[in-house]
Amino acid sequence: MSKDETRGGSPTTRLSHGGRKQAYAGAVNVPPFRASTILFDDVDHLNRADPDWLETRYGRIGNPSSRAFEEAMAELEGGYRAVSFGSGLQAITTALLAFCKAGDHLLVTDSCYGPTREFCRQMLAGLGVEVEFYDPLIGAGIEALFRPNTRALFLESPGSLSFEVQDVPAMTAAARARGIVTLLDNTWAAGWFYRPLKHGVDVSIQAATKFIAGHADANLGVAVCTEDAFRPVKTAAVLLGACAGSEDLYLGLRGIRTLGLRMERHQRTGLALAQWLASRPEVARILYPARPEDPGHSLWKRDFTGASGLFTVELKPVPRRAVSAMVDALTLFGIGFSYGGFESLVLPTNPAKSRSATEFKAEGPLVRIHCGLEEPADLIADLEKGFAIMETAQ
Ligand SMILES: Cc1ncc(COP(=O)(O)O)c(C=O)c1O
Repeated sequence: MSKDETRGGSPTTRLSHGGRKQAYAGAVNVPPFRASTILFDDVDHLNRADPDWLETRYGRIGNPSSRAFEEAMAELEGGYRAVSFGSGLQAITTALLAFCKAGDHLLVTDSCYGPTREFCRQMLAGLGVEVEFYDPLIGAGIEALFRPNTRALFLESPGSLSFEVQDVPAMTAAARARGIVTLLDNTWAAGWFYRPLKHGVDVSIQAATKFIAGHADANLGVAVCTEDAFRPVKTAAVLLGACAGSEDLYLGLRGIRTLGLRMERHQRTGLALAQWLASRPEVARILYPARPEDPGHSLWKRDFTGASGLFTVELKPVPRRAVSAMVDALTLFGIGFSYGGFESLVLPTNPAKSRSATEFKAEGPLVRIHCGLEEPADLIADLEKGFAIMETAQ
């Protein structure tokens, strides 16, 4: 029996051992393979068919770095195989192109990541795909939107910026009954707190740029697929020339090793900060399904095993300049579009701007917060200072 077969089966143990089937001169880590050319043993080897791209034949199509990262991700999310990409958005766009062609109908959640929406609106619609955005809370009611030409259903749970939790099992059951492919953006839960394939999803996509890499230093995407979905997604990646750089794959694989520890810490800090924020007079609402007050809490509790520390805070009405003064005053929270790294971030935001099927209502301005790995008490002290500045700037 190989070491691989005897290793422990708990998720934490799998994080330490996934993607390490090959040993490279005894190194614990699979090194970044800087390889475009990969040599064949002989002409017979060159001519042998490899319909599933299982072999490493050319750097862009697969090399030991991508193979190791993909194996670890497939194991983490319980998929057949994974396909790696140069960014999360590339994973999304390639997976959508794998299934949608001119004349097909595609359903996309209204709560999706903004650039996903724009790709669907500008590029897929331009290529002749009928794109329809739907209410993220529609649940089993999605069936009423299915048309004879509906090919794919795109979900994101919880949604970007607004964090609605979708009834994924009900939606995937309806889609499966009609042969409709389901894809889900799983970046928020990082495959650690949520395994979409268990809930009927065909392709679970992550911006591995975020929690998987975990250190704000890589651009990486991944699509974890069922056996049926793998071939179309990999084919689309090959046809589009999509691939990830070996340094970023290395960083993604290294991030996986500490993913569980980091996610538990993000969650603990997220809950502490959200609790403190909820007690503040400046705060109207917190959009965070891990809190019992959140409308998505019961679905989250049913399907997820935890929460990352990314949520949105709705403030009571204050002038925009006061919010800017507060955000500018923070010293431990950087102002940035991303999340998932060790450092906390804050971002003034407005989900209402990217909606078409539903209306996002808020009485005051919103800020999204990513809780990093700092001491929660220090982060709270920083926010307290920010609120004091907000008060004086009104
Ligand atoms: C939910 C979600 N999906 C996808 C992406 C895109 O990831 P990337 O920046 O790696 O393309 C992001 C980036 O912010 C995101 O938040």
